[in-house]
Amino acid sequence: MLLFSTWVLMAFLTLLSSPVAGEELFEVRMQPEWPVVEAGKDLWINCSTNCTYPQAGGIETRNIKMNTQKEGTHWKLFHLSNFSENTNIFCYFMCSNIQKRKSVSVIIYRPPEQVTLSLQPSWVIVGKNFTLTCHVPNVVPLENLTLTLLQGTEKLYRQTFVTVSTALQDAWLTLNVTARREDSKSNFSCRAELDLRPYCEQLFSATSQPKMLEIFEPSWNNQMLIIIIITILLLLVFVISVCLCFAYGQHWRQHRTGGYGVLAAWRNYRNR
Ligand SMILES: *[C@@H]1O[C@H](CO)[C@@H](O)[C@H](O)[C@H]1NC(C)=O
Ligand SMILES: *[C@@H]1O[C@H](CO)[C@@H](O)[C@H](O)[C@H]1NC(C)=O
Ligand SMILES: *[C@@H]1O[C@H](CO)[C@@H](O)[C@H](O)[C@H]1NC(C)=O
Ligand SMILES: *[C@@H]1O[C@H](CO)[C@@H](O)[C@H](O)[C@H]1NC(C)=O
Ligand SMILES: *[C@@H]1O[C@H](CO)[C@@H](O)[C@H](O)[C@H]1NC(C)=O
Ligand SMILES: *[C@@H]1O[C@H](CO)[C@@H](O)[C@H](O)[C@H]1NC(C)=O
Ligand SMILES: *[C@@H]1O[C@H](CO)[C@@H](O)[C@H](O)[C@H]1NC(C)=O
Repeated sequence: MLLFSTWVLMAFLTLLSSPVAGEELFEVRMQPEWPVVEAGKDLWINCSTNCTYPQAGGIETRNIKMNTQKEGTHWKLFHLSNFSENTNIFCYFMCSNIQKRKSVSVIIYRPPEQVTLSLQPSWVIVGKNFTLTCHVPNVVPLENLTLTLLQGTEKLYRQTFVTVSTALQDAWLTLNVTARREDSKSNFSCRAELDLRPYCEQLFSATSQPKMLEIFEPSWNNQMLIIIIITILLLLVFVISVCLCFAYGQHWRQHRTGGYGVLAAWRNYRNR
């Protein structure tokens, strides 16, 4: 009898506490947990829960085209397309009138494709500077991009970007180099590497077409300079002597005519 009443009491208490028990522990899960998507491409997200009787569920996001593809009682599969920047996606489920949310951040990437290197100017005199400019259009994330300027196979300069980028961007790198005699005929190029670790184990790389630099030595210039200086000096000597001759000639003639003039005047004076 006592045992029976205890059992009834237990059942009653369980019934009383049932709304509390209805607040069952549940969780919301999203797969993949660390989505990494190429810009413009799409992604499938599976949002699920372990709630026994889920009431409603869905996902929330901004600026992304989205539609439900399939669903089970404990999960929903979404197709999201045309990603253009890093985005947060929220997934929620209602269970016993309680809502729980979970979020993932989608990392967008675009590997380097066209890498171009330009040399400015394309020929240079030993000892003068020239500028190497590397350009990589439409790449992301910049903070995982490394640009390396190469001379042959030797690394001239390497830069990893610090600017944090969440959408497609152009990457530029310029370097001023002083031309050396031994740089003549060497091939310069630019290599771009996008290392997506730790987001995913992917490494993309692309290299520009090589560009050759023409370097002129100024040695022939010295000979030219000496010839030019000698020519100028000779010309000067010639011009100065011509001027002097002319000046002396003029002076002498003036002196003579002047003398005659005075003589003539004196004669005129005497003849009066
Ligand atoms: C759901 O998962 C969580 C965490 O793993 C667990 O604590 C909870 O008991 C589970 N709920 C159900 C109804 O299985
Ligand atoms: C979604 O995830 C749930 C839980 O992990 C799984 O049972 C279900 O089969 C998945 N659906 C698809 C289409 O992968
Ligand atoms: C994809 O996104 C880009 C930029 O956000 C937009 O210009 C383009 O029209 C979109 N394409 C589609 C098919 O929605
Ligand atoms: C990529 O960028 C993230 C964010 O700045 C950084 O935590 C990570 O170390 C970078 N990965 C590489 C390989 O540089
Ligand atoms: C390279 O030199 C040019 C002019 O010669 C200058 O305008 C430019 O700022 C320099 N760039 C770097 C990275 O030093
Ligand atoms: C030439 O480049 C060097 C670095 O390679 C730099 O130190 C120097 O200031 C540059 N000179 C001019 C005139 O730009
Ligand atoms: C530079 O590249 C050209 C062809 O692209 C090649 O013929 C030449 O041998 C290369 N020069 C050096 C120094 O590697």
